[in-house]
Order: sequence, then structure tokens, then C-alpha cells
Amino acid sequence: MAKAKTKRKAASGKAKTHRAKKAPVRGRAASTKKTAARRSTQKAAPKPKATLGPAVEKAAKHFAGLVQKQLDRVGRMKHDEGWTDYAKLSPIIIGVCGGDGIGPMISAQAQRVLEYLLSVERATGKVTFRTIEGLTIERRAKVRKPIPDDVLVELKKCHVILKGPTTTPRKGDPWPNIESANVAMRKELDLFANVRPVKVPEHRIDWIFFRENTEDLYALGSEGLEIGKDLAVDFKIITRPGSERIVRAAFEHARKAGRTRVTVVTKANVVKTTDGLFLRTAQEIAKEYPGIECDDWYIDIMTAKLVDPKRRTQFQVLVLPNLYGDILTDEAAEFQGGVGTAGAANIGKRYAMFEAIHGSAPRMVDEGRADYADPCSMIRGGAMLLSHIGYPEKARKLEMALDICGQYEKRLVMTGRDTGATGAAFSDYVMDTLADPGLEQRWREYVG
Ligand code: IPM
Ligand code: MG
Repeated sequence: MAKAKTKRKAASGKAKTHRAKKAPVRGRAASTKKTAARRSTQKAAPKPKATLGPAVEKAAKHFAGLVQKQLDRVGRMKHDEGWTDYAKLSPIIIGVCGGDGIGPMISAQAQRVLEYLLSVERATGKVTFRTIEGLTIERRAKVRKPIPDDVLVELKKCHVILKGPTTTPRKGDPWPNIESANVAMRKELDLFANVRPVKVPEHRIDWIFFRENTEDLYALGSEGLEIGKDLAVDFKIITRPGSERIVRAAFEHARKAGRTRVTVVTKANVVKTTDGLFLRTAQEIAKEYPGIECDDWYIDIMTAKLVDPKRRTQFQVLVLPNLYGDILTDEAAEFQGGVGTAGAANIGKRYAMFEAIHGSAPRMVDEGRADYADPCSMIRGGAMLLSHIGYPEKARKLEMALDICGQYEKRLVMTGRDTGATGAAFSDYVMDTLADPGLEQRWREYVG
């Protein structure tokens, strides 16, 4: 009772103060004319608002346009077609797109290795390679587009793409500040799943990351707003269908690979609306997979737990929004020997693109060291490509050969300069290792 009274008192006190503030205005308004006059002066009075008006209006218009486009995208996702069936395709067209800096050198080496492994399929016409020119920073800068139109047309004629790293300009660079070619390709071809495996057998690390690839802060990364000199706004986009498809891809992988846990990583305690939707969606999808445990972690503690030897071995399949996935997979790759050792698959229902997860290293080209660039990460991307188009056994062999050459036996070592092997010599070493009938046994001797 006492409590209720105090509450009422406080409430009426509040009301009083409120009225007290308004009262003089009412009191002075003796005639309706006067009131009207006063009201109109009141409306015109607040000057600062008037100067903000156009900026706010422009921002609101910009925002409305973005929302409409995203709603249209949601509509398209809901009516998505099914997955490409590579078994039915003939030929499967593999596009090789060199990119910038060391990209053309390392993708040429990756292509050599893939051609070697697919020699029978090339001869029978089941698989064919196609070179796609023009995705260079010079060309992109000239047409001021992240992907020149003609290149996009060529890309869309392929079924899968092996892509070298591309230079991403940023403010202050000699290039126009165009969107990253990577990000544009992921969006244009709707490559929504960025799949990044990391394995360190001696530490019992065997993770596979399913990074959402088309949404989050990346979706509108080039369409943020600068309002005056002092306010900048970017937009984080998470959609239900976008979350559903990446989470389902992670669970499907877990199911097929016999994994028992999927870990969802967000910051849903703070980024409540978008990350909240991602997490909620994941928890709903998880119910469809009763045999697989689903746990959730926040990104901050997850970055810490990846270095905790007791905890980290418990993670198996991880699924997370775009930016957290970008950051966490760089950290994860470090355990395996750095981003140079990891490949990535960018998978959509219709197209797929495979790449190294490192950059274009223009300095190596400037210093005349491009031939010494390490092609391992690109070749790992190639292994994922093989598996994706229906050759998982060839992919497994290639991974074993890469482990032997790059991590264990190391008969040739890449140093990035003439103190080490060239990318071509290293690729020959990988192919010689692939040709060894005792490959698996050789690999087991190291891995145990
Ligand atoms: C990656 C890269 C890209 C990204 C860059 C080059 C735009 O860091 O593939 O992880 O942020 O996604
Ligand atoms: Mg990255």
C-alpha cells in the first residue's frame, strides 16, 4: 500500500511540474487571435532546426531508398532458385580471374595444379577452363566500377570462378574510392556463404567458419552517409532469409560431415536488433537438427577463446555475420600459419568463387618479387573448388599434398624472395607429391 501511495504521489508530482510549465502560456493566451499569432511565431522560431532540415531530409530520402532496395532483395531471396547440380553440367566452366598484384602469378599456378588433377575430365570435355581478363585495379579505376560490366558478363558465363586477390582502394589511395571487387562479386553473384576451414591437427584444431557474405556492415559499405563534417552513419543490414540460408548451410555441412556442434557468434547483447535477428533465426533453424548441439557466443569472448587451448578444441562449425567472420577468420588462420595458408570458398546457389584470403601484395610486384609469391592459399582455394564441383577425393589429395609440402616436409620453402623457391617450383613440388602413390601414408606419418 505504502509503495503504491508513493508511486501515485510521484506521478502527480510529475504531472504538476508539467502543468506548471505550460500554465503561463495558457494564462497569457487571452484571445484566440493572440494564441494563433503566438503559435505561428513559435513555429518559425527554432532557427537551428531550419538549417538542419535539408540535411535530415536528404538523409531520410537516402535511407528510404536503401530500405526499399533491401526489401526488394529480401523478396528475391525468398523466391530463390535451387542449387546448381554440377553432376548434370557438361562442361563445367571454371573461370580464372587473375586480379591485381601477385594475383595473376599465383592464380596461374593454382590453375596448373587444377588442370593436372582434372586432366582426364578436361580430355573428356566434362571440365573446361576459361581466362577472364580485365578485373584489374587500373581497369576498375578507369570505368569507376568495382567490376567492369564486360567482366561481369564473362563471370556470369562461368559456373565457378578461381579468383586472384584484388586491390581494394580506400580514401587517400591514388585510385578512386570504389567498392572492393571482392565484396561486389559476392553481392553480384549472391555468394552468401564464405566458407573458411582452419586445421592444425597437432593442436586438435579443426574448425570450419560459415561467414555470411552479403549482408551486415558490408551490404551498404559504400552507401553510408556523411552528414555535414561531424556525423557519419553506416548501415548494418541483417535479414531473416539471409540469416536462414547461411545458418542452414552451416548445419547442413555439420550434418554431412558428422560434426556435432554449430556455434553461433554475434554481439546480440549490444547490437540487439540485427544480431538479435541473426541469433534468433539460428536458434530456430537449430531445432530442425536435433542431433546437433547449437551454442552461442559473443564475438569478443570468442576471439579470446580461440586462443584458449582447453576451449578452442571444442569448436567445430562456426556461423557468424559478415564483419565478425572477416575478423575471426584472420585470427583463426594465424594458428595454421597465417592468412597466406588459408583458402576460402564463396558459395551461392547458382555461382561459386574460390580465392586466397590474403591481399594482392603490390609491394612484391614493385620490388620484382612476384615470381616468389606463395601460391598455397590460392591452391587451397582450388581444393575447395574441386570439392564443390563434385571431386572431394581429388580435393582431399590436394590438401594432403599441400600439408606435406607447405607444413611438414618442406623440401622447398617459400620466403617471398629469391632466398626461397618460386611459386612455379613450389607448384611442381605439389604436383610431384600428388603423383606419389604413397601420398596418404606419407601424410599420415606427419599427422598421425
Ligand atoms: C576477406 C578480405 C575482404 C573482406 C576485403 C579484401 C574486402 O579481408 O576476404 O576477408 O573484408 O571481406
Ligand atoms: Mg578479411
